[in-house]
Amino acid sequence: MTSSDKQQPAQWHGARMDFSSAMSYGDYLGLDQILSAQHPLSPNHNEMLFIIQHQTSELWMKLMLHEMQAVRTQIRAGELQPAFKMLARVARIMDQLVHAWDVLATMTPPEYTAIRPYLGASSGFQSYQYRELEFILGNKNRHMLAVHEKNPDVHAALERELLAPSVYDEAVMLLARSGFAIARERLEGDWTQPTQADESVKAAWLEVYREPEKHWALYELAEKLVDMETSFRFWRFRHVTTVERIIGFKTGTGGTAGVSYLRKMLDVVLFPELFALRTAL
Ligand code: HEM
Repeated sequence: MTSSDKQQPAQWHGARMDFSSAMSYGDYLGLDQILSAQHPLSPNHNEMLFIIQHQTSELWMKLMLHEMQAVRTQIRAGELQPAFKMLARVARIMDQLVHAWDVLATMTPPEYTAIRPYLGASSGFQSYQYRELEFILGNKNRHMLAVHEKNPDVHAALERELLAPSVYDEAVMLLARSGFAIARERLEGDWTQPTQADESVKAAWLEVYREPEKHWALYELAEKLVDMETSFRFWRFRHVTTVERIIGFKTGTGGTAGVSYLRKMLDVVLFPELFALRTAL
């Protein structure tokens, strides 16, 4: 090394190399926190996969919640174009999470069995972001709050979401504001209840689908919602099939019967009229 090399800061294609007083990539992204949050409890090699698969899913859920909260605000404001953009994004995130199951499926039953005793009673069932996502999509269930009593902030956030109209409720209110006759009980309903199919809502969407050119924005909103729910259904399906492949019919760490519980969840319909109308068209 020459003496001039020692004096010059390292150079590489003009890239900045000195971050002693500037924000770097890792600073901006908080990578020190994120990358030091993996703490395997077992001596098993495969636990890292298990942890990172859950953590990355939670990060994507955080983004989906961020998008869906904005979608709700935009629908309420009648600003559908930005809502479409965000709904499309959420559907693509879901698609990506559907494919992410392929990575977890490389975990074999013996590999999971080696980790399971270290998981205690922890389970995705206690994912508060997942629960909030279900709530914002209209799959409300007050019982799900109990798990979070030990965490008052989370409990309060979930309760707020339980009490708020879902994204779909906002879409139904938009139908009413657009001149469709929606039953009063549907518009002034108890938002803490899961979405129930309503004849007046179905009739309104039917009109939209019978004359798409006349109601293009509502038609597009409906199709974006269907797109997203379809992707969500694939996620649920891949979850249960991956779980069956790994643990068979053993009970879940969260205390449910496992696969049979997850199969019941496949029957959840988030936007009932949007699917029912297809038979009527
Ligand atoms: C080896 C991997 C996995 C197994 C064996 C598994 C198993 C289960 C089981 C049996 C349940 C039912 C609740 C219980 O009794 O525990 C459940 C629920 C759940 N899991 Fe997983 N899971 C796995 C991976 C994942 C991953 C990667 C995620 C992503 C975040 C996830 C998210 C969830 C969620 C959100 C629920 C609640 C579903 C609902 O209540 O509708 N799981 N899981």
